[in-house]
Amino acid sequence: MSGDHRPFMAGVMGWPIAHSKSPILFDHWFRTLSVSGRYVPLAVAPDDFDLVVRALPKAGFRGVNVTVPHKQAALRIADGRSAAAEAIGASNTLVFGPDGAIFADNTDAYGFIENLRAGAPSWAGADGPAVVLGAGGAAQAVIHALLGAGVVEVRLTNRTRDRAEALADRFGPCMQVVDWSDRGKALESAALLVNTTVLGMTGKPPLELALDALSPKAVVNDIVYAPLETPLLAAARERGATVVDGLGMLLHQARPGFRAWFGRDPVVDDALRHACLA
Ligand code: ATR
Repeated sequence: MSGDHRPFMAGVMGWPIAHSKSPILFDHWFRTLSVSGRYVPLAVAPDDFDLVVRALPKAGFRGVNVTVPHKQAALRIADGRSAAAEAIGASNTLVFGPDGAIFADNTDAYGFIENLRAGAPSWAGADGPAVVLGAGGAAQAVIHALLGAGVVEVRLTNRTRDRAEALADRFGPCMQVVDWSDRGKALESAALLVNTTVLGMTGKPPLELALDALSPKAVVNDIVYAPLETPLLAAARERGATVVDGLGMLLHQARPGFRAWFGRDPVVDDALRHACLA
C-alpha cells in the first residue's frame, strides 16, 4: 500500500452494535502489532446503510466489518465481490480502495474452518458426514466452508424445514435435509456436528438434542460462544467427542479484514481469547 496515506481506520456496522466484541479484538491487535489504528462500532439503521457506507471512504476509512442486519445489503452495494461472498450471498467484510471503490468479501466461512482446524487438527472433510443444525445466515457460511473442505455429505436440519430445503437446493447434491424431529438420528456415523442455531445461547431456549447416536470419535462445534462451553459441548465432551467452541470463529473471521486494511497478519492466540472474554 505504498502511496496510500489514509489513516489506519476501520469499524464494524450493525444495528444494534453495542455488544460487539470486534473493537476489543482489533484494539488487542493494534497494541500487539504496534499499529496505530482505530476501529469503531457504528450503529447504523437499515435505512441509512447505503448513505453511511458511501460516506466512510470519504472519511478516510479503509473498510468495515458488517454484521446483522446489513450483510445482504453489504453484498448488494459493492462494486466487486469475492467468490465466497457471492456463494454465501452475504458480506461481512468491506474493503475500500483508495479511489473509494467498495469490495465485498465474506470471511465467516474462513473463520469457521480456521477455528475448526485449530480446535480439531485431525479432522478432515473426508472423515464422514457433517450434521448442521440451523439454516440461517451462519449455516450458509458453515456449509460453504464444509463443501470447500471436502465434505461430501451434509445433513441439514432446521426447525423450519422449508429454509433447510431452500439452502439444500442452493448447495446441490451433497445436501440431505433431515426433519428437525429426526435430528438425533442424523448423528449416526457423522464425523462432525455443528450447531449454527441460537439455541443454547445465554437468554435463548436450550438445544434439545439426544447424543446417543454420536460417535466418541466425532467433532462437535457450537458457533454459540456465550456461554463458551454450551450444554451441547459439555454433553459431547462427556461422551468423549472432540469439542470446539465458537469464540475462535469470531476471532479468525476478523483476520482477513485486518490484513486487507492494514497490511499486517494478526494471530489468534490465548491472549486474544482472554482479552475478548474479559
Ligand atoms: P443467523 O442468520 O445468525 O444464522 P437466523 O437467520 O435468525 O440467524 O437463524 C437462527 C437459526 O436458529 C435458525 O436456523 C432458526 O430456525 P428457524 O429457521 O426455524 O427460525 C434457529 N432457531 C431459532 N430459535 C429456535 C428455536 N426455538 N427452536 C429451533 N430452532 C430455532
